[in-house]
Amino acid sequence: MNQIETQLEQCKSVILEAGSRLLTSDDISVEEKTDYTNLVTKYDKATQQFLIDAFSQIMDDATFLCEEEDVADTSGRYVFIIDPIDGTANFTKYYGHSAISVALAREGKLLWGAVYNPFTEDFFEARAGEGAYYNGKRIHVSEDRLKHSLVAFGTSPYYRELRNESFRIALDVMDHALDIRRSGSAALDLCYAACGRCGVFFELKLSPWDFAAGMLIVQEAGGKITDIHGNTPNFTAKSSIVAGNKGAHQEFLNLYGK
Ligand code: IPD
Ligand code: CA
Ligand code: CA
Repeated sequence: MNQIETQLEQCKSVILEAGSRLLTSDDISVEEKTDYTNLVTKYDKATQQFLIDAFSQIMDDATFLCEEEDVADTSGRYVFIIDPIDGTANFTKYYGHSAISVALAREGKLLWGAVYNPFTEDFFEARAGEGAYYNGKRIHVSEDRLKHSLVAFGTSPYYRELRNESFRIALDVMDHALDIRRSGSAALDLCYAACGRCGVFFELKLSPWDFAAGMLIVQEAGGKITDIHGNTPNFTAKSSIVAGNKGAHQEFLNLYGK
């Protein structure tokens, strides 16, 4: 194993350990961030700090872009993009569908993405140029046309102004797809698109930590990920996201692309 491979294996162990700590959550200490829908728990903060401390030991020249506590330094040669708990609302309700999402970029390009749901022990992972994996097995997007696909979507819950448009598309796509799903974790939605469980995932506004890891996982699974205009998202900025197998993704953009 070369140095970066060893470092990524170490990072993976750190994520597994962070995940196991979420399983014992009891006193969750829920706080509101911007309003009653936008929550943070002591586990979001503790997980983020645990990951930053451990990753800094493994790669001392890395910087961090994270959801909590205004950690936003993308100046390093290596940059970790971290959502310590994607699906915090689910987490506060013991829903069992939340994930740790970690992407690593090197010199502005995604190098590694990992999304781990500790409640189901689902570990999705991709290395640039080396394919995407689910619990060690290679995964691929589906080949289904849109009409034979489940379409997952996110409601952009922190952007009230996007509700009508999100649900307009979700309602309309019911006429063009098998059915729709709303899971509460964008990172896992992207992984579900990567392994073919859904043909398309869309959400009108996401943050980098929601989609950076999933973006590489979708791409390495043979899928396509763009914004609603068909452009490649910048994984250090907020973006709309449409992801899925190439055919269904194009069908979706033909219907709803701007
Ligand atoms: C949220 C989840 C949700 C999506 C939101 C995200 P959080 O992340 O991914 O599914 O609809 O847009 O912000 O706040 O639970 O980390
Ligand atoms: Ca998130
Ligand atoms: Ca989060």
